[in-house]
Parts: sequence; structure tokens; C-alpha cells
Amino acid sequence: MTELVQNPALDATADNTGKDHPMWSSRMAFILAASGSAVGLGNIWKFPYITGENGGGAFVLVYLLCIALIGIPIMIAEVMIGRRGGRSPINSMRNLTRRDGLSNRWIWIGGMGMLASILILSFYSVIGGWALAYIGNSANGLFVGASTAAIGTMFSSLLADPYTLLLWHSVFMLLVILIVARGLSSGMERAINILMPLLFVLLLVMVGYAMSTNSFAEGFAFLFQPDFSKLTTAGVLTALGHAFFTLSLGMGVMMAYGSYLPKQVSIVKTAVTVSVVDTLVALLAGLAIFPLVFANGLEAGAGPGLIFQTLPIAFGQMSGGILFGSLFFILLVVAAITSAISLLEPLVEWFEEQQGISRLSATLMGGISIWALGILTILSLNVWADVHPLGMFERFAGKTFFDLFDYATANLIMPLVGLATALFVGWFMAKPAAENEFDMGNGLAYQSFMFVIRFITPAAVLVVFIYNLS
Ligand code: PHE
Repeated sequence: MTELVQNPALDATADNTGKDHPMWSSRMAFILAASGSAVGLGNIWKFPYITGENGGGAFVLVYLLCIALIGIPIMIAEVMIGRRGGRSPINSMRNLTRRDGLSNRWIWIGGMGMLASILILSFYSVIGGWALAYIGNSANGLFVGASTAAIGTMFSSLLADPYTLLLWHSVFMLLVILIVARGLSSGMERAINILMPLLFVLLLVMVGYAMSTNSFAEGFAFLFQPDFSKLTTAGVLTALGHAFFTLSLGMGVMMAYGSYLPKQVSIVKTAVTVSVVDTLVALLAGLAIFPLVFANGLEAGAGPGLIFQTLPIAFGQMSGGILFGSLFFILLVVAAITSAISLLEPLVEWFEEQQGISRLSATLMGGISIWALGILTILSLNVWADVHPLGMFERFAGKTFFDLFDYATANLIMPLVGLATALFVGWFMAKPAAENEFDMGNGLAYQSFMFVIRFITPAAVLVVFIYNLS
């Protein structure tokens, strides 16, 4: 028992790399970092457009349920594994299975999660690059008075131009590498301490701007008035998939961040806080975006182009559009960067655990490989738009590299890792270890958590997984 209760980070450092294992400086530092990871393109780009496509209110309600019933328990489980293992996702799982005498097949949870984080960052950075390009477009007044067609062309010509995409993808990755290379406290914590407050201020400014239009009430009603006739099965599944993505689950990220979490911090309280922050940001982003869309008589269900094609039309027609348009895309970049650094961390942490690799080399190795992988996404948008690497299988017909990365992570790896994580913590992880990490005693809270993570979460994830495959 004493063996189980001691700080796992201490015995985990007993490998022979001779490196110290850093820790977040405070509970707040972890909350900001994990919220920074959670709040990203998913909240400001994806949540509003999938809400738009799925008819608003009822979809939002289902999404909130998914966050509470599936997202929060899995986040708790991932952070528990990370803190207990005290290492990169693969090595944390190795520590846990070894210590408790479990099959080492479980280690693939860590490996698959890390693979997903690599694939996702490779295209996340390309999209972050679009946002960077749009700061310039907005600041240079390119949206002002532009027709719908002109704004459509602006977006399609960006995607058609591999060199410009490469430039912005490189700038984005460079920023991420610069932050991550400086390490946990002088790089990531420092950047996050500046970027997260900036993000909240910008978001509130944007909501304030939306309130100044006369369509705020319409935007509000769209988000919060449920109309269940608009809800489809596919919509429910989209909501669940998005709950995973938006909370950064199934990718080893919360395990990696959890490995730096000091023992005295409550995992449950922080996971709930992070999920609430993430949800609030998504809702506020909706409140910032839909009123502008409605005020200009535009379409809420425009799909992925909502941010890059619909919203610029609104900015181009409104007073103050240059300023607020630029601030909006800065907000998008800030949100994307704090997520991207969390996507790079699992791989960097793992490299660092190898003999003789410094933080700097680990970051360069990870960052440059992922940057190179991102080129496949860039080419998928133009030169290789007709290259379908797995085209011989019907399921993957017509899918480019980018489509495949997105599909494999969102529909296969994320749910599988989520499912396995829930099963591992619910059924296999040593009980004293789980109770100890849960740190709220073994009363009602623990019992409910265990019930959800054993039955509800796996069942829900399984349903989505099977539906998506059929
Ligand atoms: N949660 C981030 C978002 O909403 C994306 C992300 C996924 C980040 C997985 C890290 C890990 O944009």
C-alpha cells in the first residue's frame, strides 16, 4: 500500500536519464494550461459551425450532456493515468502496468494517443496558418465592401496556393516550437499566462461587439432555444465526437499534462473547471459569431467556411469591421497556439525521456517532423487534391491525406483510446491507485465516477464508434 501511495513521479524519475521531472508551479498553472489545450479551433471554428449545421439549441443541449457524462469522466481518467505514471503517455502506461502487474498490451493506449497527437498537430498547424493569414487580410482591409464571391475567392485562392500555405504553416509551427523548447515553466507556463488572459479579453470584446448589433437576441435564441425536430442521429454523434475533440481527449495530451501535476491538486475539481471553461468559451464564441452572421442576413449553416467565408463578409459590411475582424482572427490564433503546444508536448516528453536528448533537441525533432508531415495536408488542398492514397478501399474513396488524417484521428483513434482509457481506469487499474488519484475518498463521488467510467462512458463511445464505421 505504501508503495502505491508514494508520489509516482519520484519513482518514475528513477530511470537513468538523470533528468529532473518538472511540475506545474500551481493548480492555477495547470488549469490555464489544460484550458489552453481544450480551448482551440474546436471552440471558435468548429463548435459554431457544427451548431449551425445541426440547427442550434437542441444540438447544444446534447453536446452539454456529452461533456458532462463522457468528457469529464474521461478527462479525469486521463489525468489520473498521467499523474500516476509521471511520464509521457507511453511510459506512464508502462509504469502503471508494470507496477500493478498488468498486461503490457495496455501500453498501446499511450502509443496510439501519441500517434493521434502527431497527426492532428500536422493539420491543426495548417489551419492555424489560415488564421494567421486572415489577420493580415482583415488588417489590410481586404474584407471591406467585398462581395460574397470575392471573399469566397480569397479563401479558395489561399487553399490553392501551396507556397503561401507553407509559409503560414511554418510561422505557426515556429511559434509553437519556440514556446515548447523553453520548457514547462519558462516556456509554456509563461506563454500561457499571457495568452489565456488575452484570449478571454478578446472574446469578451467580440461578444460586446456582437451585442452592439441588433441581432444579438436572434443569435442567443439560435444557441439556446432547443428545437428537437432539427436534431438527427448524426447530430448526436457529432456532438459526442466533438466533446472528445474539444476537451483534448484520446490523444495523450491530458496524460502528458497530468504527468506534471503536483500530487496535492484535486484532479476532479480541476477537470470540472477545465471543462466548464471550455464550454463557456464555445458558447461565448457562438454568441460572438451568430449575431454578426444574422445581422448581415447570412447563413448560419454554412459549414466549415463559417469563419473564413461567412464571417469576413459580415466584417466587411460592418462599421469597425477592420479592427474587430483583425481582433477575431488574433483570438483564433491565440486559441490555436495554446492547443498546439499541448499537442506537441506528449512527443517531446517522450523524446526527452530517451538517454541524452535535451529539451531543445526533443522539441526540434518533434516539431520539425510534424511540420514536415503537415506538408501532406497542404498538398492535399491543391496539388494532390486528387491523390487518394487509400482509394482502393471503398470507405476511403476520394479521401486525400488530410481527409485520412482527420478521419483516422476523429473516427478511429480518439474513440478507441477513449474507450480503452475508460476500461483501463474503470476495470483494471489497481483500486488503491485509482482511489488515491481520485483523492475524494471512496464515497458517493468516487462510486458515481466508477459507475460512469465502467458502464456509461464505454457504452456511449462504443455506440458512436460502431455507428461511424457502419
Ligand atoms: N481541444 C482543441 C480544440 O478544441 C483541439 C485539441 C485536440 C488540442 C486534442 C489538443 C488535443 O481545438
